[in-house]
Amino acid sequence: MTLLHITGARPNFPKAAPVIAALARMGVRQRLVHTGQHYDDRMSEVFFRELDLPRPDINLGVGSGSHAQQTAAILVGLEEEMLTTRPEMVVVYGDVNSTLAAAVAASKLGIPIAHVEAGLRSFDMSMPEEINRIVTDRLSDLLLCTSPDAIAHLAREGVDPERIHLVGNPMIDTLLANLDRLDPERMQARLQLPDTYIVATLHRPGNVDDPETAGELVALLHSAASRADIVLPLHPRGRAVLEALGLDDHPRVHVVEPLGYLDFMSLVRGAQAVITDSGGVQEETTMLGIPCLTLRPNTERPITITHGTNRLATPATLLSLLDDALSGDVDVERRPPLWDGHAGERIANIVLDELRGRDGR
Ligand code: UD1
Ligand code: UDP
Repeated sequence: MTLLHITGARPNFPKAAPVIAALARMGVRQRLVHTGQHYDDRMSEVFFRELDLPRPDINLGVGSGSHAQQTAAILVGLEEEMLTTRPEMVVVYGDVNSTLAAAVAASKLGIPIAHVEAGLRSFDMSMPEEINRIVTDRLSDLLLCTSPDAIAHLAREGVDPERIHLVGNPMIDTLLANLDRLDPERMQARLQLPDTYIVATLHRPGNVDDPETAGELVALLHSAASRADIVLPLHPRGRAVLEALGLDDHPRVHVVEPLGYLDFMSLVRGAQAVITDSGGVQEETTMLGIPCLTLRPNTERPITITHGTNRLATPATLLSLLDDALSGDVDVERRPPLWDGHAGERIANIVLDELRGRDGR
């Protein structure tokens, strides 16, 4: 019996690590595919060095391209892989193009699919991730959810409740497992930051692709930097546009390369506030109790608002929300249910039960 895990982009790695580790402890035979969607050392390899992740058995090396080019290349590569290795089940993570392609390839071959982080919805079809989420969920046999709202969305879409499970959040398993390895002071010294600083990340197409929108955000970040130093570990997607717009032409804006997991989380842990459009960072800041201002009109992770430190910000509201965050004016009374460091084990148990059930049928 072999399980096939599909990863490819940065957010996949911290989600897959605890699931693969829990299944390995149960003695399940597993294969790990890296599609090659992300390929820079700092977007990919560093996570394999730092996290409890085995080396991929194969890297399809698809690289970058348009959505059609990238998704199609992954689809072709994964079909060949699945035909050769004939896994009993495919496990897919999150909402990236590698996730979508894996779900399509597996379902056409009649291989059952487990989707980790199922049911999230932004209800914004201009986001490529929303399309990936809807298609992947529709094709999946096991829908493994990080929050109760995800269960409600799937139920409304008519998914059989027996296939839906609230499992907690494997991204948070990884954070909790590495908490002792985080060292904010080391990062502060390395980047020569004062005690009060902000971390910012930006990579959503809606924020960084169009120079006019990106220009507005650069001006906003410069205003924010008058309140506190800002460190931006910049995703490669928007780098050229943001730098051409003069993002680092401000003495208190520090643009750095994307960071490895431990450096990044160390930096976040020591920050007074975070400005972001990332999905994972909304969850990690909620867990660490650090105010998070999400520069997006919506979020597929509303639990980070109702049970965490996240607030949606627009260019018009960001600076006043930032002032609240810097003055310590953000209340958090609750944490999301089951974000306790054991999601990987729950997922492993459910996957194993499903495989045994299918075997016995
Ligand atoms: C992808 C995901 C997005 C996720 C993000 C996490 C899709 C549709 N989008 O967006 O949901 O939030 O990853 O980081 O799957 N590039 C490099 N080096 C790399 C990888 C990318 O330079 O190692 C550059 C290339 O110019 C590429 C661009 O980044 O064209 C975008 O990469 P891509 O994988 O297409 O999408 P992301 O924006 O990274
Ligand atoms: N991350 C990292 N270094 C960075 C930025 C992010 O290690 O410089 C980690 C962090 O754990 C984050 C995850 O990568 O949650 C995924 O980040 P990204 O914003 O790329 O993806 P998203 O969650 O938006 O899909």
